[in-house]
Amino acid sequence: MFITFEGPEGSGKTTQIRRLADFLLSQGRQVLTTRQPGGTEIGLQIRHILHDVHNSAMTPEAEILLYAADRAQHVGQLIRPALAAGQIVLCDRYVDSTIAYQGYGRGLDLDTLAKITKFATGGLQPDLTFFLDIEVSAGLARRESGQVEMNRMDLQQIAFYERVYQGYETLIKKDPQRWRRIDANQSIRAVQEQLQNTWTAFIADRAAASN
Ligand code: TMP
Repeated sequence: MFITFEGPEGSGKTTQIRRLADFLLSQGRQVLTTRQPGGTEIGLQIRHILHDVHNSAMTPEAEILLYAADRAQHVGQLIRPALAAGQIVLCDRYVDSTIAYQGYGRGLDLDTLAKITKFATGGLQPDLTFFLDIEVSAGLARRESGQVEMNRMDLQQIAFYERVYQGYETLIKKDPQRWRRIDANQSIRAVQEQLQNTWTAFIADRAAASN
């Protein structure tokens, strides 16, 4: 099963993915936790280029192609083999990030992005996507007060992040079956519980649908 996590900066995805992975492992499930960009050795090198604050001259076209290159390597080398081996794959960001950030954020043509991402992934879609929902300003404040490295994508104007957020809202409206909205504005523990409960309900619904 392929599960992705999306959300604005500072939504706490990384912490929560780790906790959901521990929960699934405690149930005896096989789990692969990974991320985009940077889930493979080659992807890590691409992540470095994408996030280097010195690369402020990068064009939006170069940016999308680098995210797509990372994704193509990641899907081919890691995600598809893990899914074929029956693992649950938890991935921090996927195609929806490209639509939200490069499409709605940068203003690149959405049909072109769809073609590029389809080429990169071979059409692989998540079974379930969690949206860790936090207001843009609250997420940015959380990120600034944290001990995390600030990268090139953290240095945009606030209007950029607002467009990204609205992009996510549009994506959720288009495909509500796949998305689960999690209120990320709460304590780590409370968000963790929401994720576990939502996951448990999702699995129960799937089992009921297949009977
Ligand atoms: P993160 O790993 O800390 O979430 O940082 C990844 C950054 O890259 C974040 O600002 C979102 C951005 N991003 C895109 O703009 N497009 C993409 O396709 C992906 C995967 C990430």
